[in-house]
Amino acid sequence: QKQNQSHSQNNSQEPIEGQNSNQAVRHKRSPKDFIFGKVIGEGSFSTVYLAKDIHTNKEYAIKVCEKRHIIKERKTQYVKREKEVLNMLANAKHYFVRLFCTFQDVERLYFVLSYAKNGELLPHITKNGSFDIECTKFYSAEILRGLEYLHGLGIIHRDLKPENILLDDKMHALITDFGSAKILGEPDQTDSSSQDHRETSTRTQRRNSFVGTAQYVSPELLSNKISSPASDLWAFGCIIYQMVAGLPPFRSRSEYQIFQKILQVDYEVPDGFCEVARNLVGLLLVREPSQRLGANDKQSIGYTSIRAHPFFNGIDFEKLHEQTPPPIC
Ligand code: ADE
Repeated sequence: QKQNQSHSQNNSQEPIEGQNSNQAVRHKRSPKDFIFGKVIGEGSFSTVYLAKDIHTNKEYAIKVCEKRHIIKERKTQYVKREKEVLNMLANAKHYFVRLFCTFQDVERLYFVLSYAKNGELLPHITKNGSFDIECTKFYSAEILRGLEYLHGLGIIHRDLKPENILLDDKMHALITDFGSAKILGEPDQTDSSSQDHRETSTRTQRRNSFVGTAQYVSPELLSNKISSPASDLWAFGCIIYQMVAGLPPFRSRSEYQIFQKILQVDYEVPDGFCEVARNLVGLLLVREPSQRLGANDKQSIGYTSIRAHPFFNGIDFEKLHEQTPPPIC
């Protein structure tokens, strides 16, 4: 038994043995500590189960990855990256799905995560058709707070979309799925060129092989494969548009045509689209990353220029998490 686990890991739900907490011995959890229930999420490399801790009766979402599959598909670095990012976010009190512990057996890796009872944001948008302005404002503000924290740590999500925004039991937003994330200043091992040991020319920034979900991917990822925090601001603009209009801004029959539209920033706003939201979206969906609203804000103090946009009038960014979210309508 390990005396102490990685200090960056949050082990608060692990049982402590012994009277003196200074000498506490923490058990490594195992699948036997949980009752596994229904599947609540499925990705190409993982299945997420609702699970109950048999000792505390608390519910968790457990992400299970099959080792053989990850190795075969050469996704080891993505899984490592996800764990690393989740550990970096373990102290964040709001806006992120939290990693409580990890364990493994011979065949699988397990990530014990907070269970977001109200699931993904996407079906809420779809079911409702779209969101009203109050609701769009609230969820946009929560996502922005999440991005401020993430980018402040030098992490780019790179696959921000309404499927990766979950809603907890109180309907607050939690950003999830860090398998595509990049930690600035670290060599990108998920970069195909580094895996292939190919020369990457004289660029100071490496090209990443990674491209996120078609509809939310930024023009710079399509043209030069270089991502920055501003790539998440592009996706943020797409998500705001989608909450207001009900559909993402760049749509087409084929992925190729979606990419063409993104590269030309070719989108329309439907009649009745809130004018102040249209203005904000227009300042985020800008081809040149450095020209996007917020791109030149000091990372250490958050996205002050985005917060100051009239769209967010009346929002208290410091108190969002204490507020009761407006009902979805
Ligand atoms: N689907 C994927 N991850 C989830 C989580 N943490 N909570 C609820 N549903 C999920």
